[in-house]
Amino acid sequence: MTIRYRLARPQDALEIGVLARRVTRRWILPWQPASAAGPLLRGMDARAIRGKILAGQRFHLAWQDNGRLVGVAAMRDDSHLFQFFVSTRMHGRGIARRLWQRTMRDAVRRAGTRRFTLKASAMAVPVYLHFGFVPSGPLLVSDTGLVTQPMHLDLR
Ligand SMILES: CC(C)(COP(=O)(O)OP(=O)(O)OC[C@H]1O[C@@H](n2cnc3c(N)ncnc32)[C@H](O)[C@@H]1OP(=O)(O)O)[C@@H](O)C(=O)NCCC(=O)NCCS
Repeated sequence: MTIRYRLARPQDALEIGVLARRVTRRWILPWQPASAAGPLLRGMDARAIRGKILAGQRFHLAWQDNGRLVGVAAMRDDSHLFQFFVSTRMHGRGIARRLWQRTMRDAVRRAGTRRFTLKASAMAVPVYLHFGFVPSGPLLVSDTGLVTQPMHLDLR
């Protein structure tokens, strides 16, 4: 199976939102307080995502050759990874690795970025550690109750 990678256009927002919310419900929300769900999911609706794409935030997408969206990595300010999702049935096939490489290289090319940051879900921490990220401090609890692990990666 071939996976194709490209940057998102505003008209991709609906599909990005469907994938992001589905993967979030399956892998993130079961370990979060109920208060965190609504605000987190609202940030992933098509309108919110379309606004972010139009504002210049970079959504890198992975598409199956049947036209199905199977992965997204979104970067803010060429330095902060704020969305990173792969369709559940496609986990473990290297799609996140490819998405991260493309997203990182794009930011380095555009802005000369040397430090990347993110707030990890519990299930993704081992993957980020494997990519070279390290914890930046203790777990964070947002005002909605969302629990994340802040991490960063310094390029040498
Ligand atoms: C995290 C996520 C994006 C990873 O996607 P994926 O396509 O399955 O990841 P890959 O197959 O590309 O694996 C990436 C690397 O991490 C490694 N890895 C995967 N799981 C690992 C684990 N539990 N421990 C250590 N390394 C692990 C893989 O071996 C691979 O390494 P390699 O490139 O050197 O071979 C995916 O599991 C996901 O969507 N999770 C749910 C949503 C989520 O929590 N997103 C993060 C929000 S902050």
